Amino acid sequence: MQIPRLHPDTIEEVKQRADIVDVISEYVLLRKQGKDFVGLCPFHEEKSPSFSVSSSKQMYYCFGCQAGGNVITFLKEHSKRSLGEVVLDLARRYQVPVQMLEPEQRQELQRQITLREQLHEILAVTASFYQHALRQAQGEVALEYLRSKRQLSEETIQQFHLGYAPAGWETLYRYLVEQKHHPVQLVEQAGLIVPRKTGGGYVDRFRDRLMIPIHDSQGRVIAFGGRTLGDEQPKYLNSPETELFHKGKTLFALDKARDAIGKQDQAVVVEGYFDAITLHAAGISNVVASLGTALSLEQVRLLLRYTESKQIIFNFDADAAGTKATQRAIGEIANLAYQGQVNLRILNLPDGKDADEFIRKGGTQTYRELLLNAPLWLDWQIQQIL
Ligand code: UTP
Ligand code: MN
Repeated sequence: MQIPRLHPDTIEEVKQRADIVDVISEYVLLRKQGKDFVGLCPFHEEKSPSFSVSSSKQMYYCFGCQAGGNVITFLKEHSKRSLGEVVLDLARRYQVPVQMLEPEQRQELQRQITLREQLHEILAVTASFYQHALRQAQGEVALEYLRSKRQLSEETIQQFHLGYAPAGWETLYRYLVEQKHHPVQLVEQAGLIVPRKTGGGYVDRFRDRLMIPIHDSQGRVIAFGGRTLGDEQPKYLNSPETELFHKGKTLFALDKARDAIGKQDQAVVVEGYFDAITLHAAGISNVVASLGTALSLEQVRLLLRYTESKQIIFNFDADAAGTKATQRAIGEIANLAYQGQVNLRILNLPDGKDADEFIRKGGTQTYRELLLNAPLWLDWQIQQIL
């Protein structure tokens, strides 16, 4: 990716200040329809309008040719101009002061982007390595675990890119560093290997574990969770915080839940990886998992981007720990809730079961009904006191 000479703050500021309806109206005759505006798409020939512009989202989208984006993308595509030209133009029009990047700043930014691209590449290669290992003789126990114990179909195993980290001390290390020639520092920065305590060298972080890749909202692998197949502690070993992975800002399965959350205008948050996987497999796919940590305000904000009416349902485990996690999560977003910026409901499953177990025991239909009837958070809190 080429870095423009404009300061990223300037680009951001322009995006904030420019009004997409205002800008597009210069080129397309827009008519108000509900909350949005519609008109004839300027990117393809048409007789009836399928081009829509949303003022609240500051985005445009054509249902005919799938062209879409923000105010900057529109001008770039429509007038075939570069990012720099478009931003300068908008900056003049909306009186945004223009800041340029110094050459050193550009280099630093370029370095960061290159680093991130390299880490993405290494993690993608690793995810296929684990997936491949699951299909080898050594992965048999893990595959059997998924099929029998978790009752997952081939389709779900593929959909979630589940894999297996081999039992050796440096299987992945040898593959990535010796065979594929990825720089060892980068593999370490990706969180995949750790320095040996004595004697130098590295060992694989994940060994003999069932591997669950964690993706960002665009579907790129950014981390892994690895479940033990036996009784080792910890039950789940996760990637450390890296340049790409920030636990408190990530939601597991968001990439797969995005569309469903938008369509159903509602998001469900569960605690565990397998709660999310099993619900998706059962056809309830507006579900993300919080990665076991206390759900953060940032995670909730991330989720709210995809639901217009801001409907969120927490379904944490019904045990003491789950109740505590629910209370904490409510505390995190209580301000949003009081201001009506989130419409929060709480679902507790009967008999203290987690979602995964509940669905596996045939509870899909009941789960759907419970979702519909989940109490508002305040009512839930009052019930807890009583
Ligand atoms: P739970 O302990 O509730 O487990 O952890 P679970 O998801 O029901 O696990 P299974 O069904 O036995 O496989 C909930 C979530 O907390 C995180 C994981 O994201 C897990 O899915 N966790 C838990 C960890 O990161 N590390 C751990 O050691 C345990
Ligand atoms: Mn479970």
